[in-house]
Amino acid sequence: MPSAPCPTPARILVIGGGGRENALGWALARCSGVEAVWIAPGNGGTSDLQGCRQLAIAESDQAGLISTCRDQAIELVVVGPEAPLAAGLADALRAAGVPVFGPGADGAQLEASKQWAKALMLEAGIPTAGYWPASSREQALEILEREGRPLVVKADGLAAGKGVTVAETLEEARAAIEEIFAGRFDSSKASANTGAEADAAGATLVLEERTFGPEVSVFALCDGERMVLLPTAQDHKRIGEGDTGPNTGGMGAYAPAPLLDAEGLAEVRRLVLEPTVAALRARGIDYRGIIYAGLMLTESGPSVIEFNCRFGDPECETLMPLLGPELAQVLLACASGCLDQAPPLTISAGCSACVIAAAQGYPGTIRQGDPITSQLEPSAQLQLFHAGTRRDADGSCRTSGGRVLAVVAQADDFDSAFEQAYAGLAQVHFEGMTARRDIGHQVRSR
Ligand code: AMP
Ligand code: GLY
Repeated sequence: MPSAPCPTPARILVIGGGGRENALGWALARCSGVEAVWIAPGNGGTSDLQGCRQLAIAESDQAGLISTCRDQAIELVVVGPEAPLAAGLADALRAAGVPVFGPGADGAQLEASKQWAKALMLEAGIPTAGYWPASSREQALEILEREGRPLVVKADGLAAGKGVTVAETLEEARAAIEEIFAGRFDSSKASANTGAEADAAGATLVLEERTFGPEVSVFALCDGERMVLLPTAQDHKRIGEGDTGPNTGGMGAYAPAPLLDAEGLAEVRRLVLEPTVAALRARGIDYRGIIYAGLMLTESGPSVIEFNCRFGDPECETLMPLLGPELAQVLLACASGCLDQAPPLTISAGCSACVIAAAQGYPGTIRQGDPITSQLEPSAQLQLFHAGTRRDADGSCRTSGGRVLAVVAQADDFDSAFEQAYAGLAQVHFEGMTARRDIGHQVRSR
């Protein structure tokens, strides 16, 4: 029997206001058959993107977003960030009859509760570092003393990438435990959003064995059962050149990451991604969205460091230009549970390079409100995505967040891709602009 044709969503709503959401909107707007993309709340660069319109509705405003879907006859919603997913936005939209790319609050626990994700991995036999959940300061300290070596300390809930301490000494691990129980990451608040199960588990912290090896990110678009893999990517989390200084959301990225070849990726699919989807299904979770696995390639094979339930940022800005015009159809097929009926997603064989321009002070207290000037002319192989920016009533664009702009370029090799990305970066300016000059050092020869 011939399968039913897989429709293209003509009208799409992307939720979120960062560089990731602008990149998603840009990529979806250029898909054949897509008439318009709304981005809510978007940022200072959203309305400059061809085919995209900005909508002033907060990502937390579920009622407002649902009524927009009705008013604009939206055929697909793509949710960018993790917080609204953990808060059940996808559930609310689905209950209103709107197809959504993004898991419900149940599936979002993959990211929103480290303890929940670790238990799922253990149950499914997915390779990951050994761990001990702890729900009190005393219990955590006792485990640490018993093990007698520095363990990795992770706050349980959403902590915007800042809840992890890779301790070098026992003393450092003790201090990280004290800090979590002193309430620094407010994980009780984050896990309150993830539903009763995470709360019932009572864990506020996970202690983990330390693993060693290079890190790489893998992305699977899932329809609850099947999946399509995107190219691998490598992020640069530290603020400083030479991968030094405090962690950030990511100062740049490149794709594909040569660390994992096609065979390695197939192994990750078999050992990690397929068992994850099966374990989710076994828990009654119909996971329609992205599984982003942060992996460490250890001597004994890939090991999962974390799962996220959304695209990485800036990995998304890096990957979108490599994806073909079937993307909108593929995301709708995921949202509708019929990925088997979608056309294959074309993936460009090129290299993509992304460099972030951050505000002075990032990732600490940032300078903001500075005007942004740009002479950058986007082309088929060069993109400028706004992140922490806003547009004032007089039309001027100003800085308004830690990561301000993402400049992305594609070429046949990484040297040329980074040369063009850095040439693009030289065309944009704001006071205090901060960027790493060594993004892609792993794959550049000059
Ligand atoms: P996460 O927020 O879980 O991605 O952790 C942030 C960073 O901490 C990762 O990108 C790793 O560099 C590091 N990390 C997390 N878990 C471990 C581990 N078990 N062993 C070594 N490093 C880790
Ligand atoms: N760039 C890392 C993240 O989005 O979590």
